[in-house]
Amino acid sequence: MTRSHSPILDSTAVINATFIRHVEYHAVLESTNLTALQLLAPLVKTGPSLVVAAEQTAGRGRKGNVWWSSAGALTFSVVLDPALLELPPEKRPLISLVSGLAVRDAIAENLTEHTVMIKWPNDVFVNHQKICGILAEQHSLPEGGNGLIIGIGINVNNTLQAAPAEVRQRAISLYDLEHRSFDLTSVLISVLRQLEIRARQLISQPMLLLSEANSHHLLSQRQISVNVNDSLVAGQCAGIDDEGNLVVVRPDEVVRLSSGVVTGW
Ligand code: BTN
Repeated sequence: MTRSHSPILDSTAVINATFIRHVEYHAVLESTNLTALQLLAPLVKTGPSLVVAAEQTAGRGRKGNVWWSSAGALTFSVVLDPALLELPPEKRPLISLVSGLAVRDAIAENLTEHTVMIKWPNDVFVNHQKICGILAEQHSLPEGGNGLIIGIGINVNNTLQAAPAEVRQRAISLYDLEHRSFDLTSVLISVLRQLEIRARQLISQPMLLLSEANSHHLLSQRQISVNVNDSLVAGQCAGIDDEGNLVVVRPDEVVRLSSGVVTGW
């Protein structure tokens, strides 16, 4: 079967269908998060914006990792003023979880035959393989206020067959699962709509949001190991708590982790 990539993202359709007011579309960028950071102040001023690249040459991952992707993947950064979300500062760490859940919902809409799960804090998995990574960053602006960048990479029309072996083993794309191409504009619109729905839910019904996050959580009830500042926390995962922390039950204590990398499950 031949693969075709949607060559052009329909920016007008994205603006008409979502909360996004401005789209910066690039054929190739090092990293959409990097460009978003370089343009942060004007983009925040413009209103909710999107930096999209058809291809990234140096995608950034969590904890300084590199994010591998190839043409056909959907790689973009949402840029906005976090004050627009009307979230109290203590709820801001939950934005990461909200983003992961929103992408999970959008992918589940497109993949009815597969179970789509989140893996704390914000990875999205299908069949125990990663289909999306998210890098959320907040920066203060020189003229005051903050800018929020939510970088999202979804393996859509790319195939992991082209990836380095260690990436190929643990990642998957929509194309690899369904052997067909997806319309990138439609997938992007669906992610942005779910992002808005889940962000509103975080304010109006936070407990419902957390219970849904827990019901789609890959790690719950599993024995897990988490790397936290170069030491390992191992135990049974008891889900995600009201603050978005990962709860790990050990024989002698219950540990609540606000950050870390889950290395085993
Ligand atoms: C991770 O899983 O470690 C997070 C990966 C985040 C990748 C996306 S791709 C779009 C945006 N731009 C980047 O450079 N990184 C994020």
